[in-house]
Amino acid sequence: MEINVKYFKFEEISKRNGKNGNKTWIVVKDIVYDVTPYLLEHPGGSELITDWGGKEATKPFEEGGHSSYAKSILVKYKIGELHPNERGLKDEPVGLESGSSNGPCCFIRLLTCGFCR
Ligand code: HEM
Repeated sequence: MEINVKYFKFEEISKRNGKNGNKTWIVVKDIVYDVTPYLLEHPGGSELITDWGGKEATKPFEEGGHSSYAKSILVKYKIGELHPNERGLKDEPVGLESGSSNGPCCFIRLLTCGFCR
């Protein structure tokens, strides 16, 4: 883990969903952004963002076809990073991550000397 980086877990992130006066945080590529101050400036309207408040928003952000200008705005709102233990959970079931000694992959790795991944 890096020093001076604040790590957040979805337990906390999901509360910042823009509802009931809460802030609006989104996660794009494992980075956590507090985009609350930007909502009213968003050219596509604030709802496009608040729909993803407190959630993983990489796909919708990329599908918005955002320019490099939009990405340069986004970086200003970085508040931290997704906790390493919670990264890639949607793509890869827990236990199959590299370095894990549990799960069926352990047996396959044994047979293939680790070249199965
Ligand atoms: C994650 C949810 C988001 C979705 C679904 C979304 C979607 C969109 C869409 C559909 C447009 C086109 C609007 C139009 O042409 O009328 C747009 C434009 C734009 N959005 Fe978003 N957006 C999201 C988040 C953000 C965030 C977090 C930022 C910056 C902090 C941002 C910055 C911009 C900018 C600057 C434009 C103008 C076009 C450009 O320069 O790319 N958006 N967005």
